[in-house]
Amino acid sequence: MVKSLNNIKGPIEEELKAFEKHFRDSMKSQVPLLEKITYYIVQRKGKQVRPMFVFLSAKLCGATNESTYLAASFIEILHTATLVHDDVVDDSYERRGFFSINALWKNKIAVLVGDYLFSQGFLLALKNKEFLLLEIMSKAIKDMSEGELLQIEKARKLDIEEKTYYDIIRQKTASLIASACSAGAASTTKDAELVEKMRLFGEKIGIAFQIRDDLFDFGTDDVGKPLGIDIKEKKMTLPLIYALNKASWVQKKKIIYTIKRHSDKAEKVAEVIEFVRASGGLEYAKQAMLDYRTQAFEILHTFPESPARDSLEQLVLFVTDRKK
Ligand code: IPE
Ligand code: IPE
Ligand code: MG
Ligand code: MG
Repeated sequence: MVKSLNNIKGPIEEELKAFEKHFRDSMKSQVPLLEKITYYIVQRKGKQVRPMFVFLSAKLCGATNESTYLAASFIEILHTATLVHDDVVDDSYERRGFFSINALWKNKIAVLVGDYLFSQGFLLALKNKEFLLLEIMSKAIKDMSEGELLQIEKARKLDIEEKTYYDIIRQKTASLIASACSAGAASTTKDAELVEKMRLFGEKIGIAFQIRDDLFDFGTDDVGKPLGIDIKEKKMTLPLIYALNKASWVQKKKIIYTIKRHSDKAEKVAEVIEFVRASGGLEYAKQAMLDYRTQAFEILHTFPESPARDSLEQLVLFVTDRKK
């Protein structure tokens, strides 16, 4: 049985409570517009899985401390900033079941709010002289930007292989989750090998996380953000790549033409989704996700059993089983 997120949060309840305040305080500003927007953001918080990875990875390797809290806040601020920018990039008007920042305040303001959050995050780490954390996170943001740009480049050309898909998601999503795990570990141990092991664990689970997210786009369940938007944005994700590779030459040409010319029409997007479903693309991607989960478990199981390991195991199960 996969535990609910609240259940998994149990053993780190205290930490998460303190984190929430830390996180809220670090967004404060004297500018009224920013106050209003950051208040809006804090009210509609996400699942906070990255701070959970920070705390549990830290616990797996030692005793949580001030540096662990900083890492958790820092990472969630950066994650929030990337989402604010991502919704501008994707022209997406729904986030966490509400209007996105760009939907309410337009792109200009959303870009600046994202910049503000990034800089607040970095200042927070800098003020506390957390240089290793700064290094880990700067690298993650660099990767994320490269991943998003590579994705745009591929969306223009519509030529993408599985390998490129994995490169994109490793950079745009897995790098931040990998950083959550390595920064958490680095806050409680000096053992570089251990920190690297946790980074790799996070990378595996980050890839599984994005495959899960990409599967949502083909579904019909309310996940708090738009459905079918990846195809609309000409994003080639794993289910579609698989379906195209399996299709006949003529069929492939037809689908690519539809995406190129008609991805702004809901009925055409529905056609592509149906094609992917019929080709078994969803099952294929699900299996790929589970393979990454297995690899994550293999790394996790090199650690002796402990409550932190159990919770991480549950969190991994949650990531691949989640409904939003
Ligand atoms: C969304 O991340 C962005 C992706 C990497 C797919 P989450 O699903 O963790 O978003 P929130 O924070 O819970 O809203
Ligand atoms: C992941 O990509 C988001 C970031 C790396 C910031 P998506 O564009 O798929 O994420 P959602 O679906 O908008 O949350
Ligand atoms: Mg998006
Ligand atoms: Mg998505």
